[in-house]
Amino acid sequence: MKSLNDCYTLRNGYKIPCVGLGTWQTPDGDVVIQAVKAAVNAGYKLIDTAAGYGNEKGVGDAIKECGVSREDLFIISKLRNAERSYDRALRAFDKTMEELQLEYLDLYMIHWPIKKGTEGWEETNLDTWKALEKIYNDGRVKSIGVCNFLTHHLKSLIDGAEVVPMVDQIEFNPGYMQKDTVAFCRENEILVQAWSPLGTGRMLSNEELISIAGKYNKSVAQLCVRWCIQNGVLPLPKSVTPSRIEENANVFDFSISEADMATLCSMPEFGISGFFPD
Ligand code: A2P
Repeated sequence: MKSLNDCYTLRNGYKIPCVGLGTWQTPDGDVVIQAVKAAVNAGYKLIDTAAGYGNEKGVGDAIKECGVSREDLFIISKLRNAERSYDRALRAFDKTMEELQLEYLDLYMIHWPIKKGTEGWEETNLDTWKALEKIYNDGRVKSIGVCNFLTHHLKSLIDGAEVVPMVDQIEFNPGYMQKDTVAFCRENEILVQAWSPLGTGRMLSNEELISIAGKYNKSVAQLCVRWCIQNGVLPLPKSVTPSRIEENANVFDFSISEADMATLCSMPEFGISGFFPD
């Protein structure tokens, strides 16, 4: 990957830009509008939102106002947990499209699986997925995926699915690598996206990360974004601060050495948010 214009290719052949702007915890209205515009100005093509973030309307307003044509952007949104099951998911998708004011979405995702062990968890996950397959087969989204699915959630979904998820968006940073899930995704050609690649800020004060980033004259945030890409993972750093949004995309003029990658990939688990799928 050499710039924000470079893409990963999903298992259905659709291209997805290699870094995106995260918007979890970004308030709707002017804050998200300014953040998305700053990202587009900095060259980002990929914007990640969710019904559960409550900011789809602002993201949609920013897309209309940002001066870049819709086809040159890649927009992701996600199904709210309260809307699982086939019929509810179809209705929720209509609502998402109304909020975003878009004709099509690039990627639509189930936001969280039902916990393993909950009565009917496999059936409900699959029933919800069937709605996403319908939306995909109807041509209203270019790709479909899941978030926060661990290996057992993925296996059980794939067993009954017509379309294998193209993406799994999980919490991923040097302090929380979820190696089993990432390995399963690789084996099944499912692209991994990283939410909280900076550990929602927890990475930034880690002494080891500060020291490695210093060797490259880069910030810890840039080191984490670059480290995701070198792992074949798509990072979605969140910021509402234009200078940081620009900084987080300025990761294509250095390369982390093999030795430093090995160190970064074997750090103790200090980056977990505490939001567990199960
Ligand atoms: P803010 O949005 O106020 O700029 P993550 O992507 O892991 O969820 O991390 C998001 C958090 O990290 C937010 O609090 C965001 O703050 C902060 N952040 C994002 N980019 C940077 C950066 N380059 N330097 C310092 N803090 C950052």
